[in-house]
Amino acid sequence: MTDVRSLLTIAAPYRMTLAFCTVLMLCESAAALLVPWAGGLVTAAVLQPAGAAPAGVGALLAGILGLFALQALLKFGNTWFLGSASDRIVADLKTRLYDHLQALPLSFYHQRRLGDTLALLTSDVYVLGGYLSGTVVALVPLIFTAGGAVLLMLRIRPQLALAAVILIPLFYLLMKLLDRRLRPLSAQLQEEQASAIAIAQENLGMLPAIKTFTREQQESTRFREQIDRILRLTAGQRGIYAALEPAAQFIAAAAIVLVLALASAELADGKLTPAQLVSFLLYAGLLTRPVAGLADVYGQTQHAWGAMVRLRQAMQESPEPGRHIGVSLPAVKGEIEFRGLGFGYAGRPAVLQGLDLQVAAGETLAIVGQNGAGKSTLAHLLLRLYEPAAGRILIDGIDIATVSLHSLRRQIGVVPQHVLLFNATVRDNIAYGRPEPVQADIEAAARAARAHDFIAQLPQGYNTLIGDRGVRLSGGQQQRLALARALLKDPPILILDEATAMFDPQGEAEFLLACRDTLKGRTVLLITHRPASLAVADRIVRMEQGRIVQG
Ligand SMILES: Nc1ncnc2c1ncn2[C@@H]1O[C@H](COP(=O)(O)OP(=O)(O)OP(=O)(O)O)[C@@H](O)[C@H]1O
Ligand SMILES: [Mg+2]
Repeated sequence: MTDVRSLLTIAAPYRMTLAFCTVLMLCESAAALLVPWAGGLVTAAVLQPAGAAPAGVGALLAGILGLFALQALLKFGNTWFLGSASDRIVADLKTRLYDHLQALPLSFYHQRRLGDTLALLTSDVYVLGGYLSGTVVALVPLIFTAGGAVLLMLRIRPQLALAAVILIPLFYLLMKLLDRRLRPLSAQLQEEQASAIAIAQENLGMLPAIKTFTREQQESTRFREQIDRILRLTAGQRGIYAALEPAAQFIAAAAIVLVLALASAELADGKLTPAQLVSFLLYAGLLTRPVAGLADVYGQTQHAWGAMVRLRQAMQESPEPGRHIGVSLPAVKGEIEFRGLGFGYAGRPAVLQGLDLQVAAGETLAIVGQNGAGKSTLAHLLLRLYEPAAGRILIDGIDIATVSLHSLRRQIGVVPQHVLLFNATVRDNIAYGRPEPVQADIEAAARAARAHDFIAQLPQGYNTLIGDRGVRLSGGQQQRLALARALLKDPPILILDEATAMFDPQGEAEFLLACRDTLKGRTVLLITHRPASLAVADRIVRMEQGRIVQG
């Protein structure tokens, strides 16, 4: 029910188009339903007593042709308008899904494969879209026509109509029977398809590792096995689909034969005129088409249902608070206090336990500690990428849990331990955190990060494209860009998480020498293992067992 409701909310802006299309469909069905009636009239006109000239047959036939032409025209209008409405509904759905996925906390992505999430956008949305624009669009006139045909058949000869209507419970039984097999099959198939995307997505991103460890054969086999699993499931599904439509059609045909048998008796008794019989059979014929179509719709619905369930699951995940939820953190001086901080990742032992630390505004504090001590985690908590399990973090005495994420993150610059760069130009990467930057500022930041010289030597300088995640740059160059990007943002608080770990000693020395200027006036958390970097710190603390052990 919620699925239907959420779909309706998305469709709401297009209700006028949808209403218009429904009217068109009603007209289309009405035109289709007039044909058998006209057929009856033609029969009556043709079967005049011997000698009498068939009156008005030509006009009637022309009328029937006109009805077919009208149907064709209305079908075109429907397909066009409804198709465009459903396309836009899907486009809305896609952007809404993307916005939602973007707003989800990092923990969501740490719990599942990225490929599974991508499958929502690359596969499930299209399944649903195809269902809306193809199947549902076909379904509505189908139901109108079937309903109308049954009603008109009842009008002509209720006894006969009831015989034709017998096929409905039979049809229902058939659906129920197949439902049990089709539903789990559809769900599993979509899961396996998402897995295939996930494997391909991860592997293609890991190609250097696959090649250097010469694991091509194994990975190829793993992918092949996944594709084979999909193949087996689609074979099962195909069997059901292949049986579904002919079975439905057979039931419908059997009903027509039954009607014919009954009708021939009634015709002999004179209870039914030939014209009525022709109309009746034409209506019955009209009924078989939708019945077979309904079987197909049923199969498609099962398929779309799985996609809908997966989309809904993702949509029900709680996003981070909206960018303007909470008070706006005013421009800060940069005094930071971690008070009794406790935190652990889901299903893992605690990383931080009662951590207390004070950093004065403008201080450069070096944080050292073993791998896995929780240094990067501390930075994540300051940015509220995760929420602490216990304790508080205060900036200028304001609890960051109460401020808007936007106003908090705007004032913190980060060079993360794992540098993240976009497949864009050097300039766009540096300017990422600063709207409408000036070239002079970009260059100044690049110089401060000791990046300007190598950028100047790139083929197109600042306009050079750096490839996916910056693959066309060396590790140290990537890190210098990330540093320039953080400096250009000009934040009062700066987190440098191993920001010079990949610098050559000379580059590091130059950067550190210039640091006094660059870092002046900011509060800097300098997470590092490098003795050279420690020299620029005002104070050094060590993290151990979730606490600060040495001030
Ligand atoms: N997303 C995550 N999910 C679960 N556990 C995590 C996650 N990220 C880190 N951890 C664990 O939390 C602990 C602290 O990790 P953290 O990255 O903060 O260490 P660190 O002090 O920065 O280490 P390093 O010096 O290697 O950078 C580690 O034991 C790590 O395995
Ligand atoms: Mg770290």
